Amino acid sequence: MIDRVAIDRVAIDRVAIDRVAIDRVAIDRVAIDRVAIDRVAAARVATPGASMSSYNRTTDRYTKPAIFFHWMIFLLVALAYLAIEIRGPRGSDSRAFWTGVHFWAGTLVLGLAVLRLLWRLWAGAPEELESNRLLAFLGRSAHLALYVFIFAQPLLGMLMVNAGGRPVSLAWTDISFTLVRADAIARPLLKDAHEWLGNVFYWVIGLHALAAIAHHVVFKDRALRRII
Ligand code: HEM
Ligand code: HEM
Repeated sequence: MIDRVAIDRVAIDRVAIDRVAIDRVAIDRVAIDRVAIDRVAAARVATPGASMSSYNRTTDRYTKPAIFFHWMIFLLVALAYLAIEIRGPRGSDSRAFWTGVHFWAGTLVLGLAVLRLLWRLWAGAPEELESNRLLAFLGRSAHLALYVFIFAQPLLGMLMVNAGGRPVSLAWTDISFTLVRADAIARPLLKDAHEWLGNVFYWVIGLHALAAIAHHVVFKDRALRRII
């Protein structure tokens, strides 16, 4: 009887020892996980602004080419709007001059938009700023819409001119090109689309600029500074 009790005790002790061994393994695993977490944290500190989902992002600023494209396209879009506003009456010298400026500015916007998109895909953009979900969504939507605009608006202009039976001629040079043939049905549709998009984006660009100023003045964050 006593032997049995002794044997049972030994068995219980074994179980206890096994449990301790299992706990040890668990503790070791936690320790290994800790080391892994610390390594990731150290890597983050070494490259501020970097995250698991980012690539090639070593600072919290837009790159120099991205900044150049942003402001150059802004100036050219503003020039395209200005030219169309002040072009003057049909048949006047002023109208011919400012239409030439409008075509040039719009065509350059399209060329720079291509380079800008390629650069964006190559170099990425800095980490999004801390913000609530709704504002982040609005910001992302506005940026996407602005990207679409700098491609769609010049293309609509060119297609409209071609559909009217004329090539796009860039004033003061011999450059002239045709993307599509004359099309009496498409021409008024393209004209309406170009005018409509132009009018809508007065507002979108205005709100985008207002948001940038609000970031700077109200939220006092780096949104505007990091693209200057
Ligand atoms: C970012 C570039 C562009 C912007 C922001 C822009 C904007 C505008 C705006 C606001 C108008 C006046 C619409 C109205 O009367 O309400 C207009 C008219 C016009 N645009 Fe553009 N445009 C751009 C590019 C182009 C390009 C590349 C071309 C052609 C090469 C072009 C050709 C025209 C023409 C021919 C008109 C006059 C339409 C008419 O009154 O018969 N645009 N554009
Ligand atoms: C034609 C006019 C404009 C267009 C088409 C335009 C387009 C864009 C686009 C597409 C982005 C996103 C960049 C990216 O993530 O790759 C952006 C960012 C930005 N834009 Fe504009 N923009 C215009 C005018 C302006 C103006 C007038 C201001 C300021 C007053 C401005 C301030 C900013 C700022 C601060 C950002 C960076 C936001 C951030 O930190 O992520 N933009 N713009």
